[in-house]
Amino acid sequence: MNTLGRAFRVTTWGESHGKALGAVIDGCPANLPLSEEDIQGELNRRRPGYSIFSTPRRETDKIEILSGIFEGRTTGSPISALVYNRDQRSKDYTKLRDTPRPGHGDYTYYRKYGNYDYRGGGRASGRTTVGLVIGGGVAKKLLDYTYNIKIVGYTVKVGKIQGDFSYYSNPEVFNTGDIDKVVERIEGNPLRCPSSNAQEMVEYVKSAIESGDSVGGVVELVALNIPVGVGNPLFSKLSGELAGGVMSINAVKGVEIGRGFQSSELYGSEMNDQYIYCNNGVDMKTNNCGGILAGISCGTPLVLRVAVKPTPSISKPQKSVNLKSGEEVEIEIEGRHDPIILPRIIPVLESVVAIVLADLMIRGGFIHPCNLEYNRE
Ligand SMILES: Cc1cc2nc3c(=O)[nH]c(=O)nc-3n(C[C@H](O)[C@H](O)[C@H](O)COP(=O)(O)O)c2cc1C
Repeated sequence: MNTLGRAFRVTTWGESHGKALGAVIDGCPANLPLSEEDIQGELNRRRPGYSIFSTPRRETDKIEILSGIFEGRTTGSPISALVYNRDQRSKDYTKLRDTPRPGHGDYTYYRKYGNYDYRGGGRASGRTTVGLVIGGGVAKKLLDYTYNIKIVGYTVKVGKIQGDFSYYSNPEVFNTGDIDKVVERIEGNPLRCPSSNAQEMVEYVKSAIESGDSVGGVVELVALNIPVGVGNPLFSKLSGELAGGVMSINAVKGVEIGRGFQSSELYGSEMNDQYIYCNNGVDMKTNNCGGILAGISCGTPLVLRVAVKPTPSISKPQKSVNLKSGEEVEIEIEGRHDPIILPRIIPVLESVVAIVLADLMIRGGFIHPCNLEYNRE
């Protein structure tokens, strides 16, 4: 229940207001060059305070790797790593002790377990995604080292404001290797949005903050250089495993692959990707399938879109019920929160895509399960 993957397994642990959070990565083959800096770079992208739109909670999220690495390479043993929580302010939450916050896991946790950690949501907090990013950092390194696989995520929509940059409006950027320039644009924007109207989105979020509200949006993810054949029929499809992994992240409310929901409006003649022969191999004229046919990767870029809901903690007054007395109450949520989850969820989404790919590629024989030296022979 806390583990993602079967051959490459990432088990996350820890709570928002506990002492520390971390992950155990089991099944990473030996001889992958790996350092704390590799994972720290990913954690820095997820860390609170990275942009004007992230919670002012001050966390350094400094990683400590405890096991699984010797002389700069993985050993094949479990990799265990953690970050300490430094800036919890649990008193911000004491007023909410018996009144579940709308949109959070408080009510369902209380009904299921008979308790809930009112100090920031405990295990249902967005902070638990630290463990996924630790696992994702290892998976990304493994995919890059073995197949030069790159995964890039960016905001394509905020509220109702549609951006003008997406894979389908700019496929050439992903084919010609100009992706590094786009990544610079993504990482330089507070919403991680490379669209020309990103400023309009920024203003939209600012006006929501002023009215004590929050907003959601859509993230697109593209993964490049995935070989043909990753994923298994029928119940371990690449599409199914990706959807399951991504839907396991807090605040994710929908996943599309390729043209997704839009495909339901197209004619078959518009949707089908026709084959061409070029550079001594078979390719496709288009990539409406988003890199997956019948649950198996087809060699074109993987394209996913993910709907993320508005942050549930808002400062507007909301109705709730005192679970002890049954009395209806009005609550206002204090504490420090992201007005929009989008920019910080992007490294988490990339991590889950990486973990799913690493797992299926080890299970499918693309990556040697024990020793990467065999991959390089
Ligand atoms: C990276 C990340 C950061 C988050 N930050 C916050 C936050 O600051 N405030 C908040 O109310 N919810 C935040 N959330 C969302 C809640 O964790 C989530 O909405 C809640 O647990 C209910 O789960 P559900 O939305 O999947 O139903 C965050 C989620 C993620 C993935």
